[in-house]
Amino acid sequence: MKTFNINKIWLLVVFVAFYFNSIAQQNWTVPADDSKKVCKKPFTKSMARNGKDLFNTKCKSCHGAVGTNSSLPLNPEPGDPAGEKFSKQTDGDLFYKLTTGKGGMPGFSSQLSEEERWSIISYIRTFHKDYVPSGGKGSAEPETDDVFSGSDLKISVSLEQVNLETTANVTGNKDGESVPAKGVRVGFYVKRNFGLLPIGNVITTNADGVAKMTFPSDLPGDSLGNIKMIVKLIDEDVYGKVDYTQTLDWGKRFVYENPLNHRAMWGNRGNAPLWLLFSYFGIVIAVWLTIFWVVFQLIKLKKAK
Ligand code: HEC
Repeated sequence: MKTFNINKIWLLVVFVAFYFNSIAQQNWTVPADDSKKVCKKPFTKSMARNGKDLFNTKCKSCHGAVGTNSSLPLNPEPGDPAGEKFSKQTDGDLFYKLTTGKGGMPGFSSQLSEEERWSIISYIRTFHKDYVPSGGKGSAEPETDDVFSGSDLKISVSLEQVNLETTANVTGNKDGESVPAKGVRVGFYVKRNFGLLPIGNVITTNADGVAKMTFPSDLPGDSLGNIKMIVKLIDEDVYGKVDYTQTLDWGKRFVYENPLNHRAMWGNRGNAPLWLLFSYFGIVIAVWLTIFWVVFQLIKLKKAK
């Protein structure tokens, strides 16, 4: 009988492993046309800020926080986007790679819109000191959207009771004059026991410094139906802490009822359901009766001798 040559099998396993490893290590080439692609809009700070949020939810799990060299030890490595591996590539290369994906890198063509993908690139570019905007476009320059940093922004809020619409007016202080702050990100929240519950998406103020949000009508409030609304600026690192708080009767009345107070499975002993008590005590009694019966029979057996 022929015996298996274990060495040969090992050799094959090692060979296959090397083969797949070399496929995984293959260079990632980008078609020339895609490599030259640039974003149609110039990169701005607000774009990079959106990109930062997206990066932290979609990419950080593998690539680590940018600039900390903490990407996962995969093969090939995802790499830190602040590093040379990324900085040496064109905007088009990065866009193509994050759109199509390869191996351990997922493609994001369906998960992220084109604009979202470019905003992530604009965020990554803020870490590349020598970055030159491609073809005069995709510039990190005119940062027109940050003109209000340090200008003492204020939020005032007007309410529309009928359809629960909240209008936040953000104003800045320019040369002693109050002007509407355009392009500032505003978040709407309701205070909950453990933190803030966001209502809807973050809204960027329009040219009049206005951001609008309609509150849902089914928010649970306290026993009087009150909720605590908080409107605040998202970018605290730029504008400082700017917020507005008001208590409103927009919630549904909510009276807390202790679930242990009526007969239920989760009730305490005094409130257990009756069928549970009957079956439990029934079983206990039946077991003891069986034991007594067995002992009784044993005694009878002994006497019969
Ligand atoms: C599941 C883990 C994972 C996630 C999530 C992920 N990546 Fe990757 N990424 C990888 C791996 C692994 C590679 C290396 C792939 C290769 O070189 O074959 C990579 C490579 C890349 C590259 C190419 C780098 C190079 O070598 O040229 C870019 C650009 C990139 N990722 C961007 C992103 C962006 C942007 C996101 C978020 C939208 C993201 N990645 C999310 C794992 C991931």
